[in-house]
Amino acid sequence: MKYSFTIAALAALATASPVVKRAAALTDADILNYALTLEHLEDKFYREGLANYTQADFVAAGFPDPFYANLKEVSSDETTHVGFLTTALKAAGAVPVEECTYAFPSTDVKSFVGLAGILEGVGVSAYLGAAASIATKAYLTAAGSILTVEARHSSYLRASQAQSPFPQPFDDPLTLNEVFTLAAPFIVSCPASNPALPVKAFPALALTTTGTIKTGSTITLSTPGYTLAAADGKAPVYAAFITVTGPIYADATPVDGGFSLVVPAGVNGQSYVVLTGCTDAVNDDTVAAGPAIIEIDN
Ligand SMILES: *[C@@H]1O[C@H](CO)[C@@H](O)[C@H](O)[C@H]1NC(C)=O
Repeated sequence: MKYSFTIAALAALATASPVVKRAAALTDADILNYALTLEHLEDKFYREGLANYTQADFVAAGFPDPFYANLKEVSSDETTHVGFLTTALKAAGAVPVEECTYAFPSTDVKSFVGLAGILEGVGVSAYLGAAASIATKAYLTAAGSILTVEARHSSYLRASQAQSPFPQPFDDPLTLNEVFTLAAPFIVSCPASNPALPVKAFPALALTTTGTIKTGSTITLSTPGYTLAAADGKAPVYAAFITVTGPIYADATPVDGGFSLVVPAGVNGQSYVVLTGCTDAVNDDTVAAGPAIIEIDN
């Protein structure tokens, strides 16, 4: 076992007041539109990638059949999720968000599949983190039925890239703002008619370390285009890895353009780290930057 959880930690998990701090006046329509925002992004991403590259391109890049056919099915799932959420919002009398214009950094089959795996992982964490804020039970079941499929997509894409399909016993819940911070760089512009969502992006945080990262690895996170006030070294800065049993903290040391830290034990697979000035809690009031995504390969 790579993980050991104390009874106390599991009890705390079971009795925790909602893992995600509920933003004021967050309605079910807000949450469904937030989910729809992510589904539109995924839907367009797969349609664009499958239009860019042929089945032969995938085979040549080392993704043999039936990978291409399976990816088409993943793409179709995302289109179906878009239709489902759009219909549910309309039925509830709400205005569904429409597709935006996106810029994806993938330039070939390999980077497309790599980004697909990352987006599916973020999708899982987004649904998981929003679950506690859904008031209507029927929506919770519907969201859960999408979450499990996104998790299957994630496992398949990870396994196809020789990553562990299920690298840890629990998935990591992310708040709406944490997810939006990760999605925002891909969104160029949205129709003016889209209802505004009660989400904001935190300052971006980027992993600059390359190569395999494990527990105990020293890594560097950059704060691109800005300096965190605490980078003067006077106030402590912590890196907090988000997990369902609570944040795992590591000291963050200011370095040129960002911070360095040692990856703590207890996180594996696609992991999320934020910078914070305290070790009391990680929530929308205490996150200073991030999350950054770090693949930890123990
Ligand atoms: C599709 O190709 C264009 C042009 O090379 C590229 O800019 C875009 O990122 C690609 N999309 C995906 C999803 O790979």
